[in-house]
Parts: sequence; structure tokens; C-alpha cells
Amino acid sequence: MEKPMLTLEPQMAAHAGEMFALLSDPAIYEHENEPPVSLDWLRDRFARLESRQSPDGRQLWLNWVIRLPSSELAGYVQATVHPGGRAAIAYVLASRYWGRGLARRAVEAMLGELGKRYQVGTLSAVLKRANVRSLRLLERLGFALATPELHAALEAEPDEILMIRDL
Ligand SMILES: CC(C)(COP(=O)(O)OP(=O)(O)OC[C@H]1O[C@@H](n2cnc3c(N)ncnc32)[C@H](O)[C@@H]1OP(=O)(O)O)[C@@H](O)C(=O)NCCC(=O)NCCS
Repeated sequence: MEKPMLTLEPQMAAHAGEMFALLSDPAIYEHENEPPVSLDWLRDRFARLESRQSPDGRQLWLNWVIRLPSSELAGYVQATVHPGGRAAIAYVLASRYWGRGLARRAVEAMLGELGKRYQVGTLSAVLKRANVRSLRLLERLGFALATPELHAALEAEPDEILMIRDL
């Protein structure tokens, strides 16, 4: 059988060391967010996320790190599963792994899990309008622009785009 291009591992506090180096790549933050402030901060955050749910237990907060066959980590994929079967997704790869189709495969692997194990029926993603790489990725994955009504209902900002897809 052909070797998979990547595997997803549920994110654990033990991944923090490797992930801290990876997430310190400034190119990731061109459009939003900022790098982790310290390794301790990131380990603490990953430890809290090991519960895989929001503090009130209403949402699943699922995070997976992306492992390559070389055993390096390339980034992570993430899904917030709301009651009723809608999942908001996000993804981050270090820039040295961009342009190889890895993000697409990692997100596709996550969507497989979301359909099979978490009964997700619809998907959404919010991105900054200027984030063309992310937009192209979502379009390749079959996402389409949401209506202005849904954009407002899900509280996307004016400088953001809301993309949706059925699973
Ligand atoms: C968004 C992000 C994950 C996209 O990564 P990416 O590498 O562009 O996405 P992919 O892995 O799908 O690679 C796609 C590119 O690789 C090319 N490619 C090469 N080999 C490929 C293959 N076998 N299969 C698919 N695409 C391939 C594609 O042609 C495509 O280039 P194009 O967009 O010019 O057509 C990445 O830019 C990132 O992590 N950014 C920072 C964080 C961020 O902004 N996250 C999103 C917040 S909403």
C-alpha cells in the first residue's frame, strides 16, 4: 500500500516543544494572530486543550498536529464542533511546508474524521480577505462564500470572509 503523505495525531501537551519551534515562524502571522509567547505558555495551552471541549462542555475543541513520514511536524488542523453538527475549521502550516498540497490533505483527513466520528454535517471557515492562500485552499476543498445573512449571524468581521460547505 502507498505510504500516506501525512497522519494526524490528537494534539497533546507533549507536542508543545516541537510545535513551539514550528509556530515561531513569523510568515504564519502575516494576516492574523501572533506567535506563542513562550514554550511554557504553549505547553499550558495544549494541556488545557487535551480535554477536547469548551469549559462549558457544549463545544468540542478538536486539534490535531500534522505528522509527515519523515517524522517532522508540519503544523496543525483544528475544528470547533457546535451542537447540531456544524464545525468551524482552521489550519496552520509552517511556511517551509507551503505549496505542496499538504494543507489540503491534512484538512481532508480532518474532514474524514469529522464526518465519521463526530457527526458533522456542515463546515465553516472564517479568514481575512487578504489571505489568498487560505481562500484558494478552501475553494479547492469545495467551500463557497456564505450569504451576507450567515456572515452576520456568525459574527464575521467586515475584513473577513465566511466560507461554508456541506460534509
Ligand atoms: C493557509 C495555508 C495552510 C495554505 O497552505 P498551502 O501550502 O498554500 O496549501 P496547500 O497545501 O493546499 O498547497 C497548495 C499549493 O500547493 C500546490 N501543490 C503542489 N503539489 C500539490 C499537490 N500534490 N496537491 C495539491 N496542491 C499541490 C498547489 O498548486 C497550490 O498552489 P496554488 O495555490 O498556487 O494553486 C498556509 O498558507 C498557512 O498555514 N498560512 C498561515 C496560517 C493561516 O493563514 N491559516 C489560515 C487562517 S484562515
